[in-house]
Amino acid sequence: MKRLVVLASGNGSNFEAIVKTIRKNSWPIECVAMITDNPEAKAIKRAQRLKVPYFILDYKSFESKKAYNEALLRKLEELNPDLIALAGYMRILPPFIVGRFRWKIVNIHPALLPAFPGLNAIERAYKAGCKVMGITIHYVDEGVDSGPIIEQACVKVREGESLESVERRIHRLEHRTYPYVIKKLLE
Ligand code: GRF
Repeated sequence: MKRLVVLASGNGSNFEAIVKTIRKNSWPIECVAMITDNPEAKAIKRAQRLKVPYFILDYKSFESKKAYNEALLRKLEELNPDLIALAGYMRILPPFIVGRFRWKIVNIHPALLPAFPGLNAIERAYKAGCKVMGITIHYVDEGVDSGPIIEQACVKVREGESLESVERRIHRLEHRTYPYVIKKLLE
């Protein structure tokens, strides 16, 4: 069994899609933990429902960013993952974590990188009038959404389509794509 750890800060829909797809297909992968920095994350409820062990490292309870990241590193080392998948994790991993797990950390971003890195990517791409939008799965390096690209998939924006509708389709595309990329990387 390959060991997968997911990091999530919010909704956790990708986390859930990953776990369900692994289980449905009986892939030899176990999601050994979901780690979150946010005690309010909806991902926690999902972990409880899915019976995936979870760890809350409440960012605000640490005296510094460094102390938080050191605790995160210790937890990751303890979990001994083959792959760490960021899924809506809203913090930048420091070089000492990226370096420790190089080529073992991947992220999903809701835009066709290198266009629209950073926050609110879907809205920014939509407002820029993009006719084709999409998602990117990439290795995590020391930058923001800047690591080598592993996979991309796109949606063609329909005539007069609302932001909400494109957003829904992009998230569905994420849920359909990310689990398969994770599986491929772990093979
Ligand atoms: C996704 O759109 C992902 O691309 C981005 O954050 C969002 C997380 O959504 N990095 P969820 O928490 O998995 O529902």
